[in-house]
Amino acid sequence: MGIDQKPPAGQKALIFEQIELAKEKVQDSQVWKSIFRPGSPFRKGYRDTSRDRALAMMNNLLYHLHPVKLKRHGLKLTYTYCLGGLSFFLFVILTITGIYLMFFYRPAAEVTAQLAYADMKDLSAAIVFGQLVRNMHRWAAHLMVLSVFLHMARVFYHGAYKPPREFNWVVGVNLLQITLLLSFTGYLLPWDQLAIWAVTVGTNMMGYTPVFGRQLKFILVGGLEVGPATLIRWYVLHVLALPFVAVLLMAVHFWRIRKDGGISGPL
Ligand code: HEM
Repeated sequence: MGIDQKPPAGQKALIFEQIELAKEKVQDSQVWKSIFRPGSPFRKGYRDTSRDRALAMMNNLLYHLHPVKLKRHGLKLTYTYCLGGLSFFLFVILTITGIYLMFFYRPAAEVTAQLAYADMKDLSAAIVFGQLVRNMHRWAAHLMVLSVFLHMARVFYHGAYKPPREFNWVVGVNLLQITLLLSFTGYLLPWDQLAIWAVTVGTNMMGYTPVFGRQLKFILVGGLEVGPATLIRWYVLHVLALPFVAVLLMAVHFWRIRKDGGISGPL
């Protein structure tokens, strides 16, 4: 039979029957059943009932982010403008580009060897995709501050901070603070004049915090004035401590959206 020739009707039915048999065999295997849990549309015996639809939502990691039942308007782009989703997307971009930068950047600065500054220069001029990835990291950071702020404004204007979402609003406020802190700690890392003096001004301002201002400044600066100790402290905060807290808070934030009944209703 040539490529352009169609199989006769009987042969076609036989091919379909064999495909069905093979599909059943795969679906009956333990490997398949261990991955696709009861209620999954890919599992044998799935029926389009409310129970199976609810199970499909609950048993899939990605669908699980949504409540079992969604309000129709919650799916409208013009209700949320997906600003929260956009903030998360930018966070993912920042993580990926940040890991790339970590391969080339050393957070060290001494009088004799300003490694951080030299590495930053190399990233801009000598390293494959260095300039591109560094700029993507910078732009995504600026955009994330903007998108988180706009997301907060959207939530406020929809009154979505009211019960039952007041706890998630507080989680959000903490996420905003972490976003700003990530931005600020990243600012020191190029170790150029702009960074050093901006952080000197910033930490001096922190020194005026009531009651424990001096202690706070001492911990963040790692001494009495901005220097190599500050750089390593802010580096660890920037690449480890703050992202860790951000991921934890985001997990709680997303889980609460689901548990609070999905996106809030129109005013
Ligand atoms: C890293 C920062 C943040 C991320 C990644 C994030 C992510 C999200 C996502 C994906 C949603 C679902 C709806 C949407 O996309 O708009 C959402 C909803 C929500 N967010 Fe955020 N968010 C962040 C910061 C904030 C901030 C700063 C606040 C408020 C201070 C906040 C409060 C809320 C509330 C109350 C909801 C529920 C909104 C509703 O039901 O209409 N979030 N967030």
